[in-house]
Amino acid sequence: MANVAINSVVKRYGSHVILPNLSLDIEDGEFCVLVGPSGCGKSTLLRMIAGLESISDGTVSIDGHVVNDRLPSDRDIAMVFQDYALYPHMNVKNNLSFAMRMRGDPAAEIEKRVSYAAKVLQIEPLLERKPKALSGGQRQRVAMGRAIVREPKVFLFDEPLSNLDAKLRVEMRAEIKRLHQRLSATMIYVTHDQVEAMTLADKIVVLRAGHIEQLGTPAELYRYPATTFVASFIGSPAMNLIPARLAQAIVGLKAILPDGSQSALPVLARPGVKAEQAKAGTDVLVGLRPEDLELVAADAPDIWMTGWVDVVEPLGAEALVLVKTGPEQAQATIPLTVRSPNDCGFRPGERVGLRIDASKCALFDAGDGQAIGYA
Ligand SMILES: Nc1ncnc2c1ncn2[C@@H]1O[C@H](COP(=O)(O)OP(=O)(O)OP(=O)(O)O)[C@@H](O)[C@H]1O
Ligand SMILES: [Mg+2]
Repeated sequence: MANVAINSVVKRYGSHVILPNLSLDIEDGEFCVLVGPSGCGKSTLLRMIAGLESISDGTVSIDGHVVNDRLPSDRDIAMVFQDYALYPHMNVKNNLSFAMRMRGDPAAEIEKRVSYAAKVLQIEPLLERKPKALSGGQRQRVAMGRAIVREPKVFLFDEPLSNLDAKLRVEMRAEIKRLHQRLSATMIYVTHDQVEAMTLADKIVVLRAGHIEQLGTPAELYRYPATTFVASFIGSPAMNLIPARLAQAIVGLKAILPDGSQSALPVLARPGVKAEQAKAGTDVLVGLRPEDLELVAADAPDIWMTGWVDVVEPLGAEALVLVKTGPEQAQATIPLTVRSPNDCGFRPGERVGLRIDASKCALFDAGDGQAIGYA
């Protein structure tokens, strides 16, 4: 049982600042997922929690104790690395049991946990092999097994499933969730995979250039992104951001859309939004998820905006329809993605109408990307 408190942590390499000042609390038993673009500092933060990277300033506490000066081995943490870091001279079984043997755990307990991990991870036939005789995906599973057998207070995972094939990835994702439910251990997990982030997390932390852009439950981030960065980062395909201009001030707000039509949006200004951000004439971005747009005939009643079908991508159960909008076809350059029940029936080049679920829209300042309000 352990909570992790990161307090005003700074990371510098010489004059290069990676984390300017980061504070984050991870509750006991929480599954916290870190996401963000490549190079934003996710691995660096994990390595600082694990004790593998020095902390330039601030503190990391585990269970209320500052661990800045504690050795990695004294932190009761297990980390699964992006690059596995297996012991090359040991076979799989010895890799799995290494930490327990070093701790002097009883042989029967080691045996029990190693066979449990090997079974869960489907690596039983590989126990006698050395890492060099394993595929990337198999090595990744061994690295995961090494963490599982230790049953630490805190698990740190750095993209642990990135090298697995699609089917195994789905199985392992469920296995990690099961593991979390069974052990109630605190887990901090880095991924680039949207589905992993949404399905595993109690809390998602979106990092951008070393700072926290937003944190919240997956549902909060999906529904109420604080910035266009989060809106585009969480959810796949990303939220549509449609450039528009406010035709009248917020409260019964109306937007002028790219095709020239005007639409009332039931948006409520976010607390703290300045009046000038929500006045007539402001350039905004209307945020709508692909599933909150509906394609209908161009002359259907109650359409919100019109556009032209660009590409249809059938996915089996549904189709993604890429639509372009603008004042007329030749100037239709603004792309939109619509999630449509399979076989939407529209062909590329066809003019279509778009209906929206206005109760789900968000509105952003086109200048600084901050949310102005949500429906
Ligand atoms: N030893 C080092 N010296 C100097 N800069 C470093 C060092 N290690 C990492 N960095 C820099 O720190 C930044 C953050 O790196 P980090 O590995 O934490 O990114 P990340 O978010 O994990 O990215 P990815 O998604 O690609 O794994 C990068 O710009 C990287 O180049
Ligand atoms: Mg990384």
